[in-house]
Amino acid sequence: MAQVSEQLKLLIRILLRESNSDKTNLVPLLRQIRQVAGPITKPMVAFIASELNLHYSAVLDTASFYTFLDFNRTGKIAIRLAKTPISLMKGADELAAAFEKALGVTMGGTSSDGQFSLSWTSDLGMSDQEPSALIEDWPLTRLSPNHVPEIIQLLRSGLPLSQHDHSRVDFGIQRKGPVLFSEHPPNEGLQKALLLAPENVIEEVTRSRLRGRGGAGFPTGLKWKSCRSFAARDRVVICNADEGEPGTFKDRVLLSEVPELLLEGITIAAWAIGASIGIIYLRAEYAYLKPVLEKHLQERREKGLLGTRIHDKDFSFDIQIHMGAGAYICGEESALIESLEGKRGAPRDRPPYPTERGYLGLPTTVNNVETFACIPRILARGADWFSRIGTHDSTGTKLHSISGDCNKPGVYEVPFGATVKELLELADAPDVAAVQIGGPSGHLIGPKDFDRKIAFEDLPSGGSFMIFNSQRDLLQIVRGFSEFFKEESCGWCVPCRVGTALFPRLLDKILGQQGTLADLHQLESLAGTVARTSRCGLGQTAPNPILDSLKNFRPLWDSQLTNLDFQPDFDLEKSLAEATQLRTDARERISLL
Ligand SMILES: Cc1cc2nc3c(=O)[nH]c(=O)nc-3n(C[C@H](O)[C@H](O)[C@H](O)COP(=O)(O)O)c2cc1C
Ligand code: SF4
Repeated sequence: MAQVSEQLKLLIRILLRESNSDKTNLVPLLRQIRQVAGPITKPMVAFIASELNLHYSAVLDTASFYTFLDFNRTGKIAIRLAKTPISLMKGADELAAAFEKALGVTMGGTSSDGQFSLSWTSDLGMSDQEPSALIEDWPLTRLSPNHVPEIIQLLRSGLPLSQHDHSRVDFGIQRKGPVLFSEHPPNEGLQKALLLAPENVIEEVTRSRLRGRGGAGFPTGLKWKSCRSFAARDRVVICNADEGEPGTFKDRVLLSEVPELLLEGITIAAWAIGASIGIIYLRAEYAYLKPVLEKHLQERREKGLLGTRIHDKDFSFDIQIHMGAGAYICGEESALIESLEGKRGAPRDRPPYPTERGYLGLPTTVNNVETFACIPRILARGADWFSRIGTHDSTGTKLHSISGDCNKPGVYEVPFGATVKELLELADAPDVAAVQIGGPSGHLIGPKDFDRKIAFEDLPSGGSFMIFNSQRDLLQIVRGFSEFFKEESCGWCVPCRVGTALFPRLLDKILGQQGTLADLHQLESLAGTVARTSRCGLGQTAPNPILDSLKNFRPLWDSQLTNLDFQPDFDLEKSLAEATQLRTDARERISLL
């Protein structure tokens, strides 16, 4: 295996010095090294570990966890294609075939000249403009197979991808509502907040009954109050911009269209809880937005809205952007904090909750992008105004990322309490057999539920709204979701690690017309066990597509049971081969320790 050249060692040392050899910066550091030096290799891991005075296995653990670090892959330029039900509906398979042909590789492979690696990735946050690809940090949208030769030619000639017509991300807003996309004087909310004592800001947010938009709907005022209540030398505000739930892209639109609103909301939160450290955890897929956000941050520093003594108050606060590296689980707040500290993104045991002991052991508030964007409006127009919008238990508006079989995909801002049917009408979806609400971890519903309201008290949603018409193969979509969870499970706990690996196998058996009623019962029972016994939200919700489809689309499953004889689903030879491979991998790993 190639050792680390002296030139590369020098480069790594420079990057380490630039980040003050800060171990908590390991993920962005590895990302930078990946970008300038190509995929991370084991000798690079060993060198970085010795420079940082860390154990080899600690760096290996991090380097091998994140998809975008391309650990042990060889292609210099990574081409990633989104694989979601929506991208597949819009032609991702044909696009993949065109890339395979142009590069002479199959998906997962590297071109013979070592220049390109080609792979599927879970979701790029572009469901309104599929099929999409991410080439290094550049998103390309609405692609067709015809575009591929030109893209490869551009890349081979070293010209910037920005020269390609499809190297763009469209605006995305279909409907503006009264809160997030309405016209308001900038920083009005912050000015009002700074006239209040921090406790009164929290009181105002509490009275608005704002609930977190990241999915769980936790009351924001309560979270802030809890964070402020813990005595500490400092506190931390984190904006969760990891938006990894397939089908969701509303945070992308907020980040690109109203970044000022978001930064204002984060600053108000910092004043309220008493934090001087602010971090935006930005998913790797949105790296193209980082320069835009950096520009806005710099402007705010120049205006005295960030930095020391903001508005001449005893209030010093700044925000830095921390890049993710391709891991859905890092959207879970405690995994996100682990990642921020330079480790693999495995969720923490709770309690203690982050509000007590979060980033670097400090009281930490983690909120979603959309939650922060509501804050300036609440302060500017008042809690009473905000709480009159929506329903009693779900106040304000909600952004829905609508995609799939409709004529107007995009982001819609509507008050909480809108029915599924109303959203389908807005998006102009004439033929709808099913809607996946809240992404794969949410709920799959059929027409009998289209009168239900999207609100925490009825159908909660983090913002993904995928529409499937009567021509779609729903069970294949369910299978795709189960593959997603298998890929994204962090592997820490047995029910999720084993359960998510078994789901696609069981589904293949049933969808391959080899299943019996007993297999269906086994699937249902396993899904229930995984949901009940998994350690974090990923495993607890991974069985949802299976359980919902069994509940709401049972005839589809029954129609697969054509074979009533018992069929074994254990392939002895295949399993032995897998076990042998695992043993070889383990030996190789141990020999490097
Ligand atoms: C597997 C998993 C992925 C998650 N992904 C996200 C995400 O991408 N963005 C987000 O804001 N919250 C995500 N969450 C929820 C966060 O853990 C956390 O509840 C949220 O960021 C809190 O913000 P809020 O109170 O404003 O909703 C995820 C949770 C789980 C279990
Ligand atoms: S449920 Fe899954 S993602 Fe969560 S800790 Fe367990 S293995 Fe990791």
